[in-house]
Amino acid sequence: MDAPVFDYMRRYNFKKLVLCNDSDSGLRAVIAIHSTALGPATGGTRMWTYASEEAAIMDALHLARGMTYKYAAAGLDFGGGKAVIIGNSKRDKSEALLRAFGRMINQLGGEYQTGEDVGTTLEDMEIIYSETDHLVTLPVHCGGAGDIAPATALGSVEAMRACAARVWGAPELKGRRVALQGLGAVGWSALGMLLEQGAEVVVCDTDQEKVARAVKDYGVQAVSPAEIYDQDVDIFAPYALGGIINPETIPRLKVKIVAGSANNIFADEERDAAALDGRGIVYAVDYVANSGGTILDTDRFRKGGFQPERAMANVRTIFKRTEAVFEIADREGISAYLAANHMAEARIEALNRVRLLG
Ligand code: NAI
Repeated sequence: MDAPVFDYMRRYNFKKLVLCNDSDSGLRAVIAIHSTALGPATGGTRMWTYASEEAAIMDALHLARGMTYKYAAAGLDFGGGKAVIIGNSKRDKSEALLRAFGRMINQLGGEYQTGEDVGTTLEDMEIIYSETDHLVTLPVHCGGAGDIAPATALGSVEAMRACAARVWGAPELKGRRVALQGLGAVGWSALGMLLEQGAEVVVCDTDQEKVARAVKDYGVQAVSPAEIYDQDVDIFAPYALGGIINPETIPRLKVKIVAGSANNIFADEERDAAALDGRGIVYAVDYVANSGGTILDTDRFRKGGFQPERAMANVRTIFKRTEAVFEIADREGISAYLAANHMAEARIEALNRVRLLG
């Protein structure tokens, strides 16, 4: 690879990249700090076996930049950061490794704060917490919000309702047919909410136990993961993987809306967002739709400490935020994806101007 790191950092105005090593515990980690314009760089720690060190660094950079946009679009005062630990989370993780990582975070003095992500758990956060206070996601007994999946689910359903209002003139989901992909922490919670609102839901998961439980508990129809894109429904709801909206799946969709919680739903943002637009399919921008958990998680940093009612009311603003994205898209004649980016950038610029004046 030909020095892509500084090119990428320069192109997207990154602040800092920290490489962490602790030979005793085997820790090799990357902390990427994209922006602290709105507040401390914040974003979870991923533990993954990367094909190369460059791949780990580029993943951290890419994800950190995404967090800047996610927080800004959610109206939260945090910057974008992300950490990756190189290794197999089942085999290589140890208390010593997590504590060494915690000390690295602590040395940054609050410039970066972390939480869980793929390959790390709330229990891991508790261990890191013994070395540093700079954590966002923590169990309830450590003063954190605990399980954030229900809040993520609620936000994603609010985004879906905003899409419904755009397509059918009213947000109600009663009688709408939804194909829901993935019955994990968020998808399961969303399933309950959708049924409560009167939607008809077809589900799939690669885990047959979860599918059987959904059929038994809720009496919903189930299809195989391969068939989920071909359903004759109104809404496709991704709650599993990224990259699932692509040239192979787009022609198969019969829906008017794509909305769920999955991160990075497009295999190629520009190409696939344009293809959905071309087919007249309205979509909820993933990082706006799935910000509910983040909003809940960070409420305790606001004035007055954690206030569940305020936090949940703020999660529900995802409806208005999704509408605001559509307004920008219509006004500027651009895709919802670019519109969400513009919304986030406008907030960063506006607040920085206020600070300069102050
Ligand atoms: P999870 O790991 O609990 O659930 C994912 C589910 O998808 C599992 O049940 C898995 O068996 C299933 N799955 C995997 N491959 C599949 C396939 N090909 N077809 C159908 N099902 C498949 O994850 P979680 O926490 O529910 O997150 C779901 C999505 O939402 C992920 O993309 C995640 O990044 C995103 N997200 C989650 C947040 C949270 O609060 N947990 C916050 C923001 C985004």
